[in-house]
Amino acid sequence: MSERPAEAPVPSTRWTLATRHLGWEVRVFDAIESTNAYALTLTHDPTLHGLVALARSQSAGRGQFGRTWTAPPDSSVLMSVLVFPPEPLRRPAVMVAWAAVAVCDVLERVAAIDAAIKWPNDILVGGKKLCGFLVQQRTTGHADEPLASVVGIGLNVTQTADDLLAAGLPDAASMSSVAGKPFQVDAVARSVIYHLDEAYERLLAGDLSTLESLWQYRLGLLGKPVLAELADGSTRPGVLLDVGFGGVTLRDGVNVVRLAPEAIRHLSPTS
Ligand code: BTN
Repeated sequence: MSERPAEAPVPSTRWTLATRHLGWEVRVFDAIESTNAYALTLTHDPTLHGLVALARSQSAGRGQFGRTWTAPPDSSVLMSVLVFPPEPLRRPAVMVAWAAVAVCDVLERVAAIDAAIKWPNDILVGGKKLCGFLVQQRTTGHADEPLASVVGIGLNVTQTADDLLAAGLPDAASMSSVAGKPFQVDAVARSVIYHLDEAYERLLAGDLSTLESLWQYRLGLLGKPVLAELADGSTRPGVLLDVGFGGVTLRDGVNVVRLAPEAIRHLSPTS
C-alpha cells in the first residue's frame, strides 16, 4: 500500500499587509515543524512570490550548517519569506544582506539597538547572537521559471537574559534582554516585513548600492585586519579594503586579492 502524503500544515490565521511585494499573505501557524521547510514546499509556484510563513513555535527549526534552531513558544520572530527574485538579486549574498540589514533597521527603530552583522548570517549585539538567517534556494522545476529563495529569519524577542542562560545559551541575546523592556513579537514581525518590503522595492528598481553600503556599515570591518575562511577550507588573512556584492577585497602585504562573497564562509576581525 502506498503511503499517504503528509497533510499540509494549516495556518491558525492569515494577515494581509499593505505592502507592495511581501506579506500580501502572511500564514501564521501556532505550531509547525519549520517555516523554511513549509515555504520550500511552495517553491514550485511563482504566483506565491512574497508569501510569508510565520510561526509561534517550531518543532524542528532549521539553522545554518545543518544545525537546529530552537526557541520557546511565542518568544521569537520565526519567519520565512518566499521570493522569486530577478537574476541580479538571486545571489545568496544579496538575499542574506537584504534580510540582515532590514532586521538591523528594525532593531534600531523599534528598540534603539545598534546591531552588527557577523559574516555571513548572524546579527550580534555586544558579541551575543540575537538573530540568524537561513537562505535556501530551489528551482521551480520548469526550465524557464525563476529560482525561488526562502529567506528564514529567527529573531529572539522576549527572552530575558536569565531565560537564555537557563536554556544553555550564554552567547545569545534577545531584544528584551538587550533593551531591558518587553516587545510584542507580532508587532516586531510586521515591522520586519515592512522593512524587507521597502528594501525589496529599492532592489527591484536596480538600486543595490544602498543595500551594499548599509551591509558594509553593519559589518563594521572596513580597514581592519581580518581572516577570511573560504568554502574550500583555506584561509586568507589581510586588511579589508572593500566589501560588495561584486567582491571582497583584501590586502595582504603587497598582494591584493578579490574574493566572491559566496566563496567566504567566515570573515572575522583578527585584532
Ligand atoms: C542560524 O543562525 O543558524 C539560522 C537560523 C534560522 C532560523 C529560522 S527560524 C525561522 C526559519 N525556519 C527555520 O526552520 N529556520 C529559520
